[in-house]
Amino acid sequence: NNRKTLEGKTVLITAGPTYEAIDPVRFIGNHSSGKMGFSLAEEAAKRGAKVILISGPSSQTINNKNVDLHKVTSAKEMLAKVFEFYDKTDIGIASAAVADYTPRDVAKEKIKKDDDNLTIELVKNPDILKTMGEKKTHQFLVGFALETQNEEENAKGKLAKKNLDMIVLNSLRDEGAGFKNDTNKIKIFTKTEKKEFDLKSKDDVAKDILDFVEAQILK
Ligand code: PMT
Repeated sequence: NNRKTLEGKTVLITAGPTYEAIDPVRFIGNHSSGKMGFSLAEEAAKRGAKVILISGPSSQTINNKNVDLHKVTSAKEMLAKVFEFYDKTDIGIASAAVADYTPRDVAKEKIKKDDDNLTIELVKNPDILKTMGEKKTHQFLVGFALETQNEEENAKGKLAKKNLDMIVLNSLRDEGAGFKNDTNKIKIFTKTEKKEFDLKSKDDVAKDILDFVEAQILK
């Protein structure tokens, strides 16, 4: 499929984990590799979109002249970068696994291991996608939901709460789905529709997601 179905559209994609610093050598992170987001970026670019890919720390690479890769570390940096480009965005896809909490204070020096217990106080990070939903003017917004239980209920809750047009559910209960794997297994929800897909490569999952988006925006 070489049809430029997203020609003229700007697609903003968040990808990867965020790292929240504890001290100069340690951080709170998660298992996201960035693969899902980079596959989406590659596919959107193949379809002719201008892609803004905003990624947390990841070893994934991309080499496509239609993709502008912006690397960030923390959730706050990701939020700031997203809003540099949000006005020009037509389709926003949030595949990043953003840390929900961050240490209240970052220790200036490496924390010493003198005590048997160590308590790190965490404070809530901004919800990037929810903020995008609140500031939505013309953007078509796609969220992900990574769940381990009550999957559909939680996904639909996020669709409503974050003011999204579409949500992609992946469950850690499905083998081969979610973090790190080269494969994923998804269900897509809009306010009125539900579609379930088989386990496939993240490149093929990206095609399914973008086909679904295109069908929605052409309605
Ligand atoms: O990177 P990979 O290894 O390929 O793995 C892909 C993935 C499993 C990370 C991806 O498919 C995925 O599910 N990404 C979303 C992970 C997540 O954090 O889900 P959530 O259910 O906690 O968050 C819901 C949505 O809000 C997500 O779109 C998330 O990007 C967004 N969010 C969450 C919290 C926050 N502070 N800011 C956000 O923008």
